[in-house]
Amino acid sequence: MNGKFRAVVAGTGSSLPAKVLTNKDLEKMVDTSDEWITTRTGIRERHVAEEGQGMSEYASAAGRKAMEMAGVGAADLDMIICATVTPDMPIPSTACFIQHQLGAKGAACFDMAAGCSGYIYALAVAEQFLVSGSCERILVIGAELLSKFLNWKDRTTCVIFADGAGASLLCRGDSDRGVLATILKADGSMADFICLPGGGTLHPPSEKTISEGLHYIRMRGNETFKLAIRSLEEVSRDVLRKAGLQPSDVDLFIPHQANRRIIDAVGSRLGFEEDRVFVNIDRVGNTSAASIPIALDEAVRAGRVKRGNALLFAAFGAGLTWGAAVVRW
Ligand code: ACO
Repeated sequence: MNGKFRAVVAGTGSSLPAKVLTNKDLEKMVDTSDEWITTRTGIRERHVAEEGQGMSEYASAAGRKAMEMAGVGAADLDMIICATVTPDMPIPSTACFIQHQLGAKGAACFDMAAGCSGYIYALAVAEQFLVSGSCERILVIGAELLSKFLNWKDRTTCVIFADGAGASLLCRGDSDRGVLATILKADGSMADFICLPGGGTLHPPSEKTISEGLHYIRMRGNETFKLAIRSLEEVSRDVLRKAGLQPSDVDLFIPHQANRRIIDAVGSRLGFEEDRVFVNIDRVGNTSAASIPIALDEAVRAGRVKRGNALLFAAFGAGLTWGAAVVRW
């Protein structure tokens, strides 16, 4: 290791709302069908939070489990990064609420908005603080309550997005395990492909923004779809090359769970057999920044990740942003 530090994932956790919304439930709410949703997206059901709940309670629950697995106490956290586009409120950052809920008084806190790529962005930032030696333990959380910003009359979005939280406890290590490489990308010229236009400085909340539905998530799904496949394949190949690995070296591919057809297309272009690709979109839906850390936690707890395994994460989402990471477990 030449005395170089690495960012090691020492614990994982996740938390999903108890309430489950099935495709059959959605059939009663919008002009859609279980058959359309299943064949076009791979989603059968998703979890949605109750009224009055905020994202931080799920983020903290996921964080607690990751800390427990790693054997790290709240007082030992140097930093909490919460990747999200659905904060509890615009001010302050939700990471501060999480810090308070966990009792992690000494931890620096901030949110990171990179859409569905949020977890990869947060992982890459955390890695820098650990590798430079300025932090020893960082809690990286990806958490979203997208249901709160959905127009339940818009069938192009309400069948796709869902709620949940995933967390990874990263520690500074000095072995060959840990984050081997990351790549972060963005192209703001396509910002309107996936956006929530109301509520910010450009369109501050008003009766007009509400009546025009600017407070809802919008997505140009079909155009995003094609770009997602191409970009995910390219960034995955690039990050593997950066880590000195080939697609054949990957033990488990954990992609952002945006659409089953995207996952299958990218997996097949990279030459991954079905058992080397982790999929939970059928039960969890698209939880944006939470999707990879939830999937990672499920994979770890299901025994699908073994010491020494090479994991590939890749995500694509609002921004547009995309990115990938390779982790040696
Ligand atoms: N039920 C029934 N019909 C529907 C539904 C629905 N829920 N939604 C759309 N349709 C209809 C459309 O109106 C259209 O009808 P038309 O042909 O009569 O005009 C038809 O189905 C096909 O619509 P498309 O949008 O072309 O469907 P597509 O096959 O592209 O699937 C989807 C849509 C699932 C959104 C897909 O495009 C997708 O997954 N895109 C990528 C999403 C993504 O990766 N986003 C990035 C991450 S998200 C983030 O960052 C927050």
